[in-house]
Amino acid sequence: MTQSQNIISPLLSPEQLKLDQTLKLGVMASGSGSNFEVIAQCINHGKLNAQIQVLIYNNPQAKVKERAERLGIPAVLLNHRAFTSREELDENIVRVLQEHGVEWVIMAGWMRIITQVLLDAFPNKVINIHPSLLPSFRGTQAIEQALAAGVKITGCTVHIANLDVDSGPILMQSAVPILPQDTPETLLARIQVQEHKIFPQAIALAAKLHHYSTLSSGANIA
Ligand code: GRF
Repeated sequence: MTQSQNIISPLLSPEQLKLDQTLKLGVMASGSGSNFEVIAQCINHGKLNAQIQVLIYNNPQAKVKERAERLGIPAVLLNHRAFTSREELDENIVRVLQEHGVEWVIMAGWMRIITQVLLDAFPNKVINIHPSLLPSFRGTQAIEQALAAGVKITGCTVHIANLDVDSGPILMQSAVPILPQDTPETLLARIQVQEHKIFPQAIALAAKLHHYSTLSSGANIA
């Protein structure tokens, strides 16, 4: 594997990921929002049949808010500090998502632990992205964990979320080689290039799998 080689799995064509129905997305983000913006761009360029109904962010300083304003996407601040429990935060998240007609919840750098409250409201429809090849390096500082472990390949994973942090059925992964001179910053930059490729695709794949699973259990389009 050389510097420029990445492996994405499953590898699906735009035709295989074409959606008949427009997905109504609610995005949750805490930080910069590069993944949020890429999803919005894919939608705007006709590469993902979806609409972002609302962005929820929890950090008043999050740069993602500016991106939403620029893109004309409604943004709602739900500061976790204003709530007494994770459940209370999630009850308010669910209320905002439902008020905006959201069907699929996209955690694009949401740095809070979610609860059953959110999962019950959107069963099998909460999607997360994580900067490692799960199940390795769950939780915070996944990139630093990979560098410290000395692994030679890491990457990113998009998965259906469940109660355990960075766990749940894997939708799509991209492998990224770790180079001898890598720092957390250089590695993050290369992982994010891959995140931006697989996240929109994995959202479409989740919708496809959901559609087929309602027709017959165990169906797999890959
Ligand atoms: C991504 O690296 C994602 O894997 C992690 O948080 C980061 C969010 O980045 N969960 P951005 O805010 O989308 O740029």
